[in-house]
Amino acid sequence: TSADEAAQPKSYGDLVSTLPARGGWVSLVQYQNYWLNPGRLQNIIPVKELYKPRADDIVLATYLKCGTTWLKALAFAITTRGRHHQAFAAADHPLLTVHPQEAVPHLEVHTPGQGLADIERLPSPRLLGTHLPLSLLPPAVATSGCRVVYLCRQPKDVFVSLWHFVKGMRGGRSPVELDAALAMFCEGVSPFGPVWEHYLEYWKESLARPERVLFLRYEEMVADPVRAVRTLAGFFAVPFTDEEEGRGVPEEIVRLCSFEMLSGLESNRTGDLDCGDNTVIGKSTFFRKGKVGDWENHLTKEMGKKVDAVFEDKLQGSGLVF
Ligand code: A3P
Repeated sequence: TSADEAAQPKSYGDLVSTLPARGGWVSLVQYQNYWLNPGRLQNIIPVKELYKPRADDIVLATYLKCGTTWLKALAFAITTRGRHHQAFAAADHPLLTVHPQEAVPHLEVHTPGQGLADIERLPSPRLLGTHLPLSLLPPAVATSGCRVVYLCRQPKDVFVSLWHFVKGMRGGRSPVELDAALAMFCEGVSPFGPVWEHYLEYWKESLARPERVLFLRYEEMVADPVRAVRTLAGFFAVPFTDEEEGRGVPEEIVRLCSFEMLSGLESNRTGDLDCGDNTVIGKSTFFRKGKVGDWENHLTKEMGKKVDAVFEDKLQGSGLVF
């Protein structure tokens, strides 16, 4: 009705001005329970309406710093291996020259040529990334038959990785002290936070629809990457054949996508990713240490306990434990 229309904000700027806002470690507004970058709402909100999931889509969903870049590389290498099966040996695989973040477009990050309209024009099957919580994706994600891989990570390492990432984006400067940022993180005030809500939405969906939603952990992938690659290939309905196993294809994919390999490539070490909206991120920022447990080098034991207590409390009864 016209009354409803009158109540609708006319622009994203108007909408932002009506939302709860927090400054400090990063500037955020709260929209439908999640804390989001106000400058990115115009990319985030339309996804729900404009992204049309297809039955053969694969959506790689992650909270920030949970290993998105790695998952994108692995999923790309697994699903395109028919096309590039000679490339491993010939050393001309696309991932040797294209950053994994560019190899797989992101629903809400509109790199030039990778806007939602461009994504809709992509041929099937599509491989897509997103940091959006499930509730900000179209409901058709659950009914279209598309596959979702969700990758989560131990929250203390997520915080430390995010802290460095934000600092890196600001050219090394960080106006907020580590403990102030941690306090906000534990309050749920981080980009796409609360982190536990983000985890829980996908966790519950993976329990309800395990054949279409695969829930993975960074730590388990680090512990046994070959197994993770086999799991992913099976989930994508392109399991490795005996012949491929015999040729060591899963191991080759693990090696190609390893932190050591990817972080050393010229195409991932230099230059910037144009993320649209006047945001550029150094390509190397996505590769820091790639280790489990690095939080111990940055947080005190007390800080660690605080994060653990918050997540234990918020995840209580869900079956998801860190
Ligand atoms: P650290 O900051 O702890 O090193 P995202 O890709 O979601 O932004 O996550 C970035 C984190 O994944 C960073 O963690 C980064 O170093 C790590 N990472 C990037 N590439 C990786 C790879 N190939 N294998 C394992 N970890 C990787």
